[in-house]
Amino acid sequence: MEDTKMENFSRNKEEYQPKMLVFACNWCSYAGADMAGVSRLQMPPNCRVVRVMCSARVGPEMVLSALFKGMDAVLVLGCHPGDCHYSEGNYYTRRRALVLEKMLDLLGIAKERFQVRWVSAAEGERFARTIREVVDQVTSLGPNPIDTSLESLDRKWQKSENSKSEARNSKQIQMTKIKNSKQKTK
Ligand code: FES
Repeated sequence: MEDTKMENFSRNKEEYQPKMLVFACNWCSYAGADMAGVSRLQMPPNCRVVRVMCSARVGPEMVLSALFKGMDAVLVLGCHPGDCHYSEGNYYTRRRALVLEKMLDLLGIAKERFQVRWVSAAEGERFARTIREVVDQVTSLGPNPIDTSLESLDRKWQKSENSKSEARNSKQIQMTKIKNSKQKTK
């Protein structure tokens, strides 16, 4: 399946549209998204914006879950350092992101698939530019390999089950042959 996905990607590179989930904090980045909308700035249509009260609300399990469920990238947007409505939320986000990046690296996920950026309420242009940049980076990477690795795990499991049942069958055949030859010799 992974090969098919990558084959389709290389065949239809022009048409490939990555799916991106954007978590935007209520007090700055979500307002920045509004500003981009009101200013009618051009943005790729392939992202879904989820409003959270603070970027620190986005736990690693939310990022991993989105990636495991087929999102090609997750972008977390928060207030600029020092501007968090809850004083230190974005500092936690930044530290957590460093750990999560290492975890994704171990899983073989490109670091471009998870990014944290700062966008204030007045920065509609910056919001649109960030979305365009990340979408461009992810488009060049191609489809997210995580869900395909799950499928490949499934395939491996199926393959091992098949070989186990083949081994059982051949053992049974051998036993029957031995039994039959013993009966003949009697
Ligand atoms: S409120 Fe925006 S990052 Fe915390």
